[in-house]
Amino acid sequence: MDLKKISARTKALHGPFQSQAWDFRHHLIPPMTASTTFRLESLERGARGFSNFASPQSANEEPILIYDRLDEPNSLMLEEQLASLHKGELALVFGSGMGAISTLFLAMTQKNQKILSHRTLYGCTYSLLKNWLPRLNIETEFLDFNDELSLQMKIKKTSTRILYFESISNPLLEMIDFEKVVSLVKIENQNRSDENKILIVVDNTFATPWGLRPLEFGVDFVIESLTKNISGFGTEMGGAIITTKKYETPLKVARKDFGAIMTSHSAWHILVYGISTQALRFEKQQENAQAIAQFLYTHDQVESVIYPGLENYQFHNLYKKYLKTPEGKLAPGTMIAFKLKGTEAQTANFINDLAKNSYAITLAVSLGLTKTLIELPGFMTHSALSEEDKKSCAIDSKVIRLSVGLENVHDLIKDLDEAISRNF
Ligand SMILES: Cc1ncc(COP(=O)(O)O)c(C=O)c1O
Repeated sequence: MDLKKISARTKALHGPFQSQAWDFRHHLIPPMTASTTFRLESLERGARGFSNFASPQSANEEPILIYDRLDEPNSLMLEEQLASLHKGELALVFGSGMGAISTLFLAMTQKNQKILSHRTLYGCTYSLLKNWLPRLNIETEFLDFNDELSLQMKIKKTSTRILYFESISNPLLEMIDFEKVVSLVKIENQNRSDENKILIVVDNTFATPWGLRPLEFGVDFVIESLTKNISGFGTEMGGAIITTKKYETPLKVARKDFGAIMTSHSAWHILVYGISTQALRFEKQQENAQAIAQFLYTHDQVESVIYPGLENYQFHNLYKKYLKTPEGKLAPGTMIAFKLKGTEAQTANFINDLAKNSYAITLAVSLGLTKTLIELPGFMTHSALSEEDKKSCAIDSKVIRLSVGLENVHDLIKDLDEAISRNF
């Protein structure tokens, strides 16, 4: 059977059909495993398992399972699915998105190397870069990646090792032109040895593989927080790195030693419920998001709305170029950022009003879930940013982030409309 001819939507339901990770020819649904350790059968097989661990050469052999923290069947099956969705050679899953991000930075950098990051990004990633990595002499410079000249200059510094950005930034939905960044790095890398080559890492959590597959545009690593739309139901935490086989050894060894592994229980849920329904959920949530963005756009108490599916979206050309489903349809996504007119206090009252009176909209962090969630990033997900950094990336106290779920869209619009009327 030629899996290349099968669509991403169908593959998300059936997976690779037969997996090296588990003989499930007789199971319609893969069995849920719960074994922290595995029978090694003989000293020789056990020793082979340890010496082959994390080596790409062993890819076509049946894996010798040793211990859950090294590899286990449900995570291996989920990894096969994520690699396939992203058209990558290798996917590795972690206990959370932050587990994936921190393991990647620690595995791929050395002291005195530098990270360049786009200025707007998720608050905990910012905190990792700003507060923790400098202790190991790994400093990060934040800049606007759309300022091509400045990016070009900074790439040339020999200490630069990683370029990091979110394909649609959290929370302001900024986009970067991948192909421009990739071509600048390609030129610089011509003169660098392998261990000093600049690596491009893209956090694709907002877009999801159903909206964008950054490896297709030449980046080195994709991050997904599986906690969000891929898991989808708000029951599992998880993260993933998707990349090429070349990085299998350092990443797997780092995951083994740092220990940010996913539980087999979560891997099973994300594999069985999350991956197989993601396309459907994403499409319906996106349809709702488009209708809500349009409602907000025409509301006289709304100061601004950011949503890729609106004509006034600042990165309209990049949206048309990059945000597409595997079937080629435009994918503006499920996230909206907006501001209301009036004061900061009125915005705070509006949020508290929704928290108290809305049935369909919940004041909560996280995103991409079946239920609609609203939050104020400046006080919540992005509160780790210094006041100065919040200002430089325009995350002020009035920015509202809305993650649109699967409810009837009229109920969502009604709750928003009523809360606006009561407070403005
Ligand atoms: C863009 C982005 N990346 C990474 C993360 C971290 O993921 P997790 O909460 O699974 O650690 C988040 C969490 O909100 C996020 O929004």
